[in-house]
Amino acid sequence: MGATVAATGNALPTAKPDSAAQTPYFNQTADGYQLNFDGEHYRALEVSVNGKLVKFRAFENIVYVRRPLEPDYQSLNLYVPEAYFNNGTINGFNAQSAPIFLPNAVGGYMPAKAAAYNDKGFGSDDKPNAIMTALAKGYVVASVGARGRTLEQNGRYTGKAPAAIVDLKAAVRYLHFNDARIPGDANKIISNGTSAGGALSALLGASGDSADYAAYFKTLGAAEASDRIFAVSAYCPITNLEHADSAYEWEFNGLNQYSRMDMSKLNAAGYNDRSKPMPMLEGELSAQQIAVSDQLKAAFPAYLNSLQLKDERGTPLTLDAQGNGTFKDYMKEVIRRAADKAYQAGTDLSDQSWVSLSRDGVAAIDWHGYVHSQKRMKSPPAFDALDLSSGENNLFGTQTVNNQHFTAYSQQHSSLSGGMADAQIIKLMNAMNYIDNPHAATHWRIRAGTADRDTSHAISAILAIKLTMAGKRVDYATPWAVPHAGDYDLDELFQWTDTISR
Ligand code: DHB
Repeated sequence: MGATVAATGNALPTAKPDSAAQTPYFNQTADGYQLNFDGEHYRALEVSVNGKLVKFRAFENIVYVRRPLEPDYQSLNLYVPEAYFNNGTINGFNAQSAPIFLPNAVGGYMPAKAAAYNDKGFGSDDKPNAIMTALAKGYVVASVGARGRTLEQNGRYTGKAPAAIVDLKAAVRYLHFNDARIPGDANKIISNGTSAGGALSALLGASGDSADYAAYFKTLGAAEASDRIFAVSAYCPITNLEHADSAYEWEFNGLNQYSRMDMSKLNAAGYNDRSKPMPMLEGELSAQQIAVSDQLKAAFPAYLNSLQLKDERGTPLTLDAQGNGTFKDYMKEVIRRAADKAYQAGTDLSDQSWVSLSRDGVAAIDWHGYVHSQKRMKSPPAFDALDLSSGENNLFGTQTVNNQHFTAYSQQHSSLSGGMADAQIIKLMNAMNYIDNPHAATHWRIRAGTADRDTSHAISAILAIKLTMAGKRVDYATPWAVPHAGDYDLDELFQWTDTISR
């Protein structure tokens, strides 16, 4: 049995009528939205999660800034276990100590409304989603919405970078501001997201209380409170966009067949439903694209070496001009470990010619064989497209310009003489720029499946290594054969959140 709604509305004797359904934003006032949490408007709900009845209060559609541009997106849904209104305890947590799980539903840097407890496509039909799983385990859940790159109002774009991260941070500020009024501990906020949402989750964790975003909070009327969080869960983060093109070619150069979803068919309504297959584009890189791939690959070692990465024993992780060296060996070991874990759990790897098995498990992997075991997804440049056609070009537009470049390489080679995004805005979108921030989150869980081809595996590895070097507690792995996806291992995710929270 999965998560089914057993009862809604006035199931509990204490329940108030469902006024939220008639008034979408009950914190709206004559002059904007008021930010003091109002505990009076809720629905009392009961949902069966794996055979266990979970009772909770749903406070939905709370606009988290005083002057939203897009209230449908700049709002959150707060779900609180009913026990926390009756001095109860769940899983060792109570109304004071319960961590706050903060999932965002962002995909493709598109606008995303706050996910609801009964959303499909967040977990599959027969599996409880992350929100219900968290509630069942005694977490308070603040599911947050955020603006995205395609929003437009009266001929002006309202969700270009850095809107999405400003919004997530403003939502965190709302929770800190209301910490005494909302059950749960705002000092234990655990962010969760996948892909673009994973990148934003990481950025939220890295950039806690950075002064860089202050002007944006002022305009929106964000709560004057901390935007620090405690922990980050990031699935396949599409981050470090300035270096993602060269990282992609470092990994996939020489692999010339591509197969990818047709992003031109993407729309805000359809994309978050990850159960629907997207139309595919298949093809082979042109000679010109192969030349671009060679150039971008050649640029990666200088960037990688500039990071001065070290592994946990202090060994420098570097690359030579050909892209070989200790960093590549490190990545091979990451993939070998994933293969070995799958093998030890009973996965048959005998048909993977690039995996060398010994008596004890996976002895080695052949990197070239691994890279060529699947087609590439993106053609070069993978993110900053020369014709401004990528989602990321669209992310870095302005109020009046829909698409821009964000790397010097693509701007110089632009086929459309595209403009360049503001350097400060590019900085505000990359978690890598905030890892040494003293207020960055302490605990990190980063996952990127071995079958993921949306960005180079180097991107999440570099993030994990840098965080570890900065003294953070990092749980990083590349689960075997998992494609570009998130929330597929909720038991393990919440074992981790339990461990770090106690
Ligand atoms: C996502 C996937 C991508 O390949 C990308 O470039 C940006 C975002 C996503 O799934 O969110």
